[in-house]
Amino acid sequence: EGEIFGYLFSRGMGMHGLQSIDRDVVKMICREYDVEVIDADPTRVEDMARKKEILDEEDLDSLEDRPPVLTIMGHVDHGKTTLLDYIRTSKVVASEAGGITQGIGAYVVPVPIDGKLQTCVFLDTPGHEAFGAMRARGARVTDIAIIVVAADDGIRPQTNEAIAHAKAAGVPIVIAINKIDRDGANPDRVMEELASIGLMPESWGGDVPVVQVSALKGDNVDELLETVMLVAELQDLKANPHRSAKGTVIEAGLDKFKGPVATFIVQNGTLKKGDIIVSGAASGKVRALFDEKGNLVDQAGPSIPVQVIGLDNVPIAGDEFEVVSSLDAAREKAEACAESLQKDRIAAQAGYGKVTLASLA
Ligand code: GTP
Ligand code: MG
Repeated sequence: EGEIFGYLFSRGMGMHGLQSIDRDVVKMICREYDVEVIDADPTRVEDMARKKEILDEEDLDSLEDRPPVLTIMGHVDHGKTTLLDYIRTSKVVASEAGGITQGIGAYVVPVPIDGKLQTCVFLDTPGHEAFGAMRARGARVTDIAIIVVAADDGIRPQTNEAIAHAKAAGVPIVIAINKIDRDGANPDRVMEELASIGLMPESWGGDVPVVQVSALKGDNVDELLETVMLVAELQDLKANPHRSAKGTVIEAGLDKFKGPVATFIVQNGTLKKGDIIVSGAASGKVRALFDEKGNLVDQAGPSIPVQVIGLDNVPIAGDEFEVVSSLDAAREKAEACAESLQKDRIAAQAGYGKVTLASLA
């Protein structure tokens, strides 16, 4: 409680333990401590199960292929970041505190498939149990979930959780049984475990693609990528790059120098510098766009993750964003959203008991 108190105080929101706090503030605290907010809001459940409806009627005549968004999920330490490091020829794991991933990493990677480079977008999610909200978010924006299972450890709680998120989001699953180079690796046991939870491997007559890999050595990673691209091709992934952008906030926070910073993944249209955006109760004009390497870019098309500055507030990760025609329209939408949050808060206080700092801690 003291720590949360200090955190709120540092944001200019000093308060005493029994004072009730806004739903937005609860969300903010939960985000800071990476606790998933579970509230009694039934639309959230619908939201999870809803297959993204991001194409409008008008888009249908202007559709073009877009890169697949591939989210890597699984239990802590099963080798997700190592797999991406191999694919990207990078060394992210080595730079992580304690080798633990704590945020969603978003990367645009040219992947060689049949001798041609194809652009793919990878999201790396944390496997630690505290980061369930990030796995849920990762599953919601992805086209395919790549579930990594260590061959020497098998299916563990966050493996099951990740599979549940992928199913809830209605996205196809590809399994990577990893660490097959290790002493004690038992990929067959993992295959049995998969079958026992209803994910029957293709090689056993089922419909779940399973590839046995070593992320560390790179064994069979090519085969995994080919498998994933086959699944992606079947999905016929398209968007209309010639319209104003909309998509989802995958990360958001407050930067000391830049102010509110958000990472968006554009799901339809093209986001450009100067666009007016709104996301929940946050709105503003895009002042600058940065790619994953921190380079300034002018625009970001479908499937592409991009860091955005120019919002007046920190948006909520997982919320949608869209481009609107004027700042007035943006503010109007943002205010309407803030008002409905306020109403929710009153309903929450009336119906579900109030949330106080003391009850949170
Ligand atoms: P979180 O993001 O914290 O959930 O972990 P992660 O799934 O990203 O695991 P990470 O890639 O950080 O790897 C964890 C440890 O397993 C590291 O020490 C890796 O070197 C090791 N590791 C990953 N893949 C392999 C593999 O194929 N073979 C062997 N022998 N070790 C591996
Ligand atoms: Mg990791």
